[in-house]
Amino acid sequence: MRDIYILAIESSCDETSASVVKNGCVDVATVTNTQIDTHKLYGGVVPEVASRLHLENITLVIDEVLKQANMSVSDMDAIAATYSPGLLGSLLVGLEAAKALCLVYDKPFIKVNHMMGHICANNIGEKLEYPLISLIISGGHTDLIYMENESSFKYIGQTLDDAVGECFDKVARILGMPYPGGPNVEKMAKEGKDSYVMPDLLNDDSCNFSFSGIKSYVNNLVHNTKQRGGEIRKEDLACSFQNAVCKSLVNKTRKALIKYNVKNLCIAGGVASNSFIRESISSMCDSIGVKVHVPLKKYCTDNGTMIGAAAYILYKNNVFSDLDTNASSHEELSGEFN
Ligand code: KG4
Ligand code: ZN
Repeated sequence: MRDIYILAIESSCDETSASVVKNGCVDVATVTNTQIDTHKLYGGVVPEVASRLHLENITLVIDEVLKQANMSVSDMDAIAATYSPGLLGSLLVGLEAAKALCLVYDKPFIKVNHMMGHICANNIGEKLEYPLISLIISGGHTDLIYMENESSFKYIGQTLDDAVGECFDKVARILGMPYPGGPNVEKMAKEGKDSYVMPDLLNDDSCNFSFSGIKSYVNNLVHNTKQRGGEIRKEDLACSFQNAVCKSLVNKTRKALIKYNVKNLCIAGGVASNSFIRESISSMCDSIGVKVHVPLKKYCTDNGTMIGAAAYILYKNNVFSDLDTNASSHEELSGEFN
């Protein structure tokens, strides 16, 4: 079979990213413009600023990725873009750019759900094996999804409140570290000991999570200690927090794997770049004979490559989208291809 090339665009939050992906598994070229330095000034992503920056960068990023791939739009078999979930204004920039290119170059358009993209980041390199359970841990999601095959998605667990990445970001802020907090909390935790007692996280029979309790607990602990004139051992607190959150992710994932008798797990999303969490989940999987798939760290946070990997699956199944496709801030994966 001949090679299939897809130009894939991701702009759902604060990264403007474009990739040329071959056969859904080879990252021919990727160019990402991150807005982190701007949003850092405000302690988090400012949606209006994000969409304006996407607008400034989208054509530059697309031009540059094609240059790096040494290809042109005419060489592409399809053009893909994230359409949901994410910030509406941000999504629209990548989506409209992709649709405009499809119109001008007469190429098929493929809309991609961002969460399917995170899962498919695992296909860059080694292919996923099914049936599997996906643990998605990002800034906006904490989901356990059962997948009978590459085109079916059944939610079996979700966070009841905050997403795990959001919780890392809030705790980082409480400890005085800049946005995005996850990598900073991880770095700080490496220097500390697990010496703070943390509240128990949701430990019922379900596969759901809850992180708002631990976030409030850390906030109150820091506030009360400061009011009493005491000192917080930040490294220890980061370490105890990360351990408690990780324990909950490991326990609930283990529960899901056993309940559904599944022998493959894939981890996806920005928080999956946390080494402590990757290693803890991997050793739990080893202990129960489950194969774990984890993307390279650079494909964990938002990027165009994962969108190209997901788009290839849709391409193979002839799932194309109309050029009047609109963006949506919160569309879940459901049933067959979403
Ligand atoms: O997947 P992603 O890039 O964007 C969303 O789709 O949300 O995930 C971003 C989230 C942020 O909350 C960030 O703090 C978190 O992933 N994150 C981490 C680490 N790297 C990124 N959290 C914990 N440890 C990390 N090393
Ligand atoms: Zn993401």
